[in-house]
Amino acid sequence: MATMESLIGLVNRIQMACTVLGDHGGEGMSLWEALPTVAVVGGQSSGKSSVLESVVGRDFLPRGSGIVTRRPLVLQLHKIERGTEYAEFLHAPRKKFTDFAAVRKEIEDETERVTGRSKAISNRPIHLSIYSPNVVNLTLIDLPGLTKVAVEGQPESIVEDIENMVRSYVEKPNCIILAISPANQDIATSDAIKLAREVDPTGERTFGVVTKLDLMDKGTNCLDVLEGRSYRLQHPWVGIVNRSQADINKNVDMMAARRKEQEYFESSPDYGHLAPKMGSVYLAKLLSRHLESVIRQKIPSIVALINKNIDDINAELDRIGRPIGTDGGMACTVLGDHGGEGMSLWEALPTVAVVGGQS
Ligand code: GDP
Ligand code: NA
Ligand code: MG
Repeated sequence: MATMESLIGLVNRIQMACTVLGDHGGEGMSLWEALPTVAVVGGQSSGKSSVLESVVGRDFLPRGSGIVTRRPLVLQLHKIERGTEYAEFLHAPRKKFTDFAAVRKEIEDETERVTGRSKAISNRPIHLSIYSPNVVNLTLIDLPGLTKVAVEGQPESIVEDIENMVRSYVEKPNCIILAISPANQDIATSDAIKLAREVDPTGERTFGVVTKLDLMDKGTNCLDVLEGRSYRLQHPWVGIVNRSQADINKNVDMMAARRKEQEYFESSPDYGHLAPKMGSVYLAKLLSRHLESVIRQKIPSIVALINKNIDDINAELDRIGRPIGTDGGMACTVLGDHGGEGMSLWEALPTVAVVGGQS
């Protein structure tokens, strides 16, 4: 019996295989859609990319004021037992990035490759995997920020375009929503909560995250929100203190930032009593635990979908004829040694990547 940890690892690999295969769902629900993911949603500069970085525990995302995130980033975290952490992009398979500054540069370059240097956005996602001993197994999606007005150089439709793009991710019943609201703005007007409420009215798959607690006006606090009195969700709200722009400019590293965040909560007269349930490390644990329970509930339907895909793949192979040998393609690598009797996914996938692949 596999541990839940390795099961989530398997799910991550299946998900990546689906990505390599293109949307090999056919009619009905595809595997990709059957598996839970976590999407980060919020207004521009609310701290979405910063929260994602904290959850991962590495600096690698483009961040800053303005419209920095302009394409969805599908980020898969894979926990490895030991070894050096590295990153890999789907658009550059086999190239291992160990320098996370280079990962950030590659995200920026790959964004521009599609959108140009403009402030335009694109709904074509960038797929990135990170392998590290220091992460929990999670799939996260960073999204462009919701906005209320178009800025210079953007079409008027951008407000709606972004909202529709974000909605297309969060409306999926399997999408866990990380709704980011900055503490220095009224939660009642939070774009994240507005959209989350629309697609998840009962709040069962929404995690409310409040950033920028350190930027609130003196004498005010966020306790009504954090203690669930302002807006009730099924899951507890989590408060976060990310690095400020000044911290980023001074290259304050992740570990120092986490220590500072923890100290902030522990020493806070307002939030001290909540300290063990605040901060990015706690958020990562909370998310991982939730994901495990969701996957546990979904095992039967996931297995059924995998079997259906294997049947479809075999039928397709019978139709087109089986190839001689297989090349060690990415789909193969990502599935690892997932075997089974008869024709295994391991054997079938590289072939299908050739038949049905998108590129
Ligand atoms: P995104 O646009 O939602 O992805 O937001 P970013 O993560 O790029 O952050 C936008 C800006 O807000 C950056 O300059 C961050 O340094 C700053 N920022 C984000 N979270 C916090 C926070 O909790 N406290 C402070 N002081 N600044 C933050
Ligand atoms: Na930003
Ligand atoms: Mg961002």
